[in-house]
Amino acid sequence: MSDPLSRWREHADTAVLLDGFHALKHALRFGAEVPVAVTTDRKAALALAGELAGDVRDLLDTLLTEVSEPAYASLVPRPHPTGVAALALRPSREANLRALARTPRTAPVVVLDHPRNLGNAGAVIRLAAGFGATGVVTTGTLDPWHPTVLRGGAGLHFATAVERLGVDELPAGPLFALDPEGEDIRGTKLPDDAVLAFGSERTGLSPELRARADHLLRLPMRPQVSSYNLATSVAMTLYHWSATGAAFPA
Ligand SMILES: C[S@@+](CC[C@H](N)C(=O)[O-])C[C@H]1O[C@@H](n2cnc3c(N)ncnc32)[C@H](O)[C@@H]1O
Repeated sequence: MSDPLSRWREHADTAVLLDGFHALKHALRFGAEVPVAVTTDRKAALALAGELAGDVRDLLDTLLTEVSEPAYASLVPRPHPTGVAALALRPSREANLRALARTPRTAPVVVLDHPRNLGNAGAVIRLAAGFGATGVVTTGTLDPWHPTVLRGGAGLHFATAVERLGVDELPAGPLFALDPEGEDIRGTKLPDDAVLAFGSERTGLSPELRARADHLLRLPMRPQVSSYNLATSVAMTLYHWSATGAAFPA
């Protein structure tokens, strides 16, 4: 087998960076293909795995190669406290589109309409993974696989289908758009095949998305507060689905 630095160079242009132990752990749990994983301290990384990730410890034992601190620092934009980094193959667009189109759906798809903040997008992907959502679709120019989004997603891009699409390409299913002017969400049961759409941090829902919406829903908010943060709005809405819907497992 080639040395880890050559393997890293071979995949660096097409694969995505898993920055730190926890991102690698999550990605492996959800079936990511990882051609190379390095650590500055194999013993410490495997001890952490023994403590926190017994399910993937053997896999980590096979994958992790120890490299020097300078070699590690040359591979990552900034060193992670765990001294672990890996590259994972990005799932194909076709596979994501198939996952998003599959019916009947047992959990909603989250749509971020023209999001702008990379950290918000990462936090939403982490939420979607936690709630077992079918996928996270973004419209607009933000790349949901941008390294900063990946960092915010903590390796959980592999636990849900993450793809950028046009408003005219959204998956089928009743479209519930979240907007402070809508009907109170507490009076609505969100179905498992719902498409849940959220507007941009600055300008809210786009006219195209609004025109496609079947329902406008608002989250409870007292007068004089204009809106919630995008990721917290997704959190409340997915929680509402989990508390009132049928399919949420735990
Ligand atoms: C930061 S807000 C956008 C604020 C923006 N200035 C506007 O005009 O709507 C981002 C998104 O979070 C969701 N959101 C925030 N507060 C909400 C609320 N109280 N009810 C429903 N959705 C909300 C909406 O989807 C909104 O488009």
